[in-house]
Amino acid sequence: MAQIKAAITGVGAYVPPYILTNEELAKMVDTTDDWIMERIGIKERHILLEEGKATSDMATEAVKQLLEKTGTSVDEVDMLICGVVTPDMQFPATSNIICDKVGIKNAFGYDVNAGCSSFLFALITASKYVESGSHRKVVVVGADKMSSIVDYNDRNTSPIFGDGAGAVLLEPDTTGLGLIDSIMHVDGSGKQHLHQVAGGSLRPATFETILRRQHFIYQEGQPVFKAAVSNMADVSVRMMERYNLTSETLKYLVPHQANMRIIEATARRMGIPKERVMLTIAKYGNTTSATIPLCLWEYEYDLKPGDNIIISTFGAGFAWGSTYIKWAYDGSKIVK
Ligand code: UT7
Repeated sequence: MAQIKAAITGVGAYVPPYILTNEELAKMVDTTDDWIMERIGIKERHILLEEGKATSDMATEAVKQLLEKTGTSVDEVDMLICGVVTPDMQFPATSNIICDKVGIKNAFGYDVNAGCSSFLFALITASKYVESGSHRKVVVVGADKMSSIVDYNDRNTSPIFGDGAGAVLLEPDTTGLGLIDSIMHVDGSGKQHLHQVAGGSLRPATFETILRRQHFIYQEGQPVFKAAVSNMADVSVRMMERYNLTSETLKYLVPHQANMRIIEATARRMGIPKERVMLTIAKYGNTTSATIPLCLWEYEYDLKPGDNIIISTFGAGFAWGSTYIKWAYDGSKIVK
């Protein structure tokens, strides 16, 4: 019997309408458009401003679009996994809330938190259910309302992040297309460089934690930068070597969108020219769990069955990895 692979058969996404430009940000913190473009490569980011709206609301829009584009009914979905670091609440899982809002009743699911690698780790996890034959239509979401944990008084972190959501459908394929292989790593000693100080069981919320602004992202940029460059490149090059992929046979590198310089360094080590790197960083910024599905959504039109792509991510944890995919459908025929 032919081996079952998990193939991506559709992509949906959503970004909120409000756009925070570098010029506007420069009125909030001591920064400039030039500095942000030169050091990070972000021009603007979308922010979910609407009161009472959360990560699940953006994810719900992405999943609804995905189901419509793929002609999938809510009753057919048998699993939904959500990669997220800004869940609506500590519990229940955001995946449950998304299912409820979309009207998915026959599924089970849960959240995966692997920092900026959350979507990729969720995708790999979901693929195992499809490959085993136990589940046939699995939705994988990557969504984050980063503005809920960004300190807009801190110039070190506020330019980087944006809000957004993306979702893909995974289905069985027996023709050799789909997720081929993954290399994943975690290193918990990296937590000191990138974390949220308070709000967990280690330091529950108190007046003091609020006054000390400890419910926002804490990041030491340089050690994270160094680890991201070396680790994303290492796993991506290892994947290319494992499958004899070259700059000619790899259609796209799909990198996490944290910093243009990290992306360029990774592509350089892989020998991939810039035009074959998916880039959305300038207009969406770092949407954490949503960067990869947003890239696939933007470049879907240019993907054909059999195209080789490598997804590569790095984030808090540290958690990083790369996945080699043989694309499964003709994106040029899809109407957005
Ligand atoms: O997605 C999760 C993983 N996260 C990442 O991959 C992020 C990795 N790190 C980075 O992308 C970069 O380290 C940052 C973008 C966060 C910072 O860039 P950098 O080139 O590493 O700058 P730096 O932190 O070394 O700061 C250099 C200078 C400092 O000034 P002094 O001490 O040299 O006078 C900063 O205070 O730039 C200053 N600076 C700024 N200046 C203008 C920091 N932020 C800003 C700013 N505008 N927004």
